[in-house]
Amino acid sequence: ATVTVRAPSSTANLGPGFDVFGLAVDAFFDEITLTKKNSGVTIVTKDNIPTNPDNNTAGLVIKNMLKKFKIKDGVEIKIKKGVPAGFGMGSSAASAAAAVIAFNQMFELKLDDNALVEFAGFGEKASAGSVHYDNVAASVLGGFVIVRTNPLDVIKIEPPMNLRMCIAVPTLEVPKKKTKVSRGVIPKKVRLGDSIANLSNAAVIVAGFMKKDSDLIGKSIKDVIVEPARQHMIPGFSKVKENALKAGALGVTISGAGPSVIAFSKSNADLKKIALAMSKGFASANTKCQTVICKP
Ligand code: HSE
Repeated sequence: ATVTVRAPSSTANLGPGFDVFGLAVDAFFDEITLTKKNSGVTIVTKDNIPTNPDNNTAGLVIKNMLKKFKIKDGVEIKIKKGVPAGFGMGSSAASAAAAVIAFNQMFELKLDDNALVEFAGFGEKASAGSVHYDNVAASVLGGFVIVRTNPLDVIKIEPPMNLRMCIAVPTLEVPKKKTKVSRGVIPKKVRLGDSIANLSNAAVIVAGFMKKDSDLIGKSIKDVIVEPARQHMIPGFSKVKENALKAGALGVTISGAGPSVIAFSKSNADLKKIALAMSKGFASANTKCQTVICKP
């Protein structure tokens, strides 16, 4: 028996929704093919990723699920990476999500959304040092997702039809354990006024998705807590943001833990201008950049 599943890349946080908001992005996909074997968990891949299942997101997820459901079979995991790793596009989450969905199908577990996301989150612990479900929830469910942890609840909302996004992926050396490093720079304590600002913007983003109002979403992509703490890790960030806003972007922020930057728009014509403006912003810091335009 063989099952193949593809899961999309995603962008987490959307500004003020740190660890809470995720948005599936159909720009890149990871593909996982599971094959039942007699015993053991093995990884087959042509990509430059760990093949020891204990150091591999999909491997960790599958081993954990075999144990939790007391399944004695072995599983071969074939991985085709499409999501660039280390750029804030939910690369590990896409593999984890595809692995969980494939495993659920293969062993006919009939898991609900919360359970699928929870099992996928297990793989994130390995790469980020702590569990956060924003990327995996978006990769598993698609669309815009809100994650409440403790107890885990995932809520999906379909994005407005006219919401478009441009992702600028800089060509940078990203540190190993990047997510862990970029979580380390976030302040442990925040001012009440900052918390109020982020909470109000986050609330309006949710309202924007409910009302299918891309302008409302775009103008609420404002984060006074995490973005200011992380932006120094992205050479050219302030220029990229300024340029994108000048070119007509509705809102601009770091994608997940970075270093990619996302800009929202509802016009395809504007998106081309925004993409160029963002590339120029990165070029001003001597950073090359690949821009991906997509509809989430
Ligand atoms: N919410 C997480 C972070 C996403 O920003 O650290 C990381 O992929």
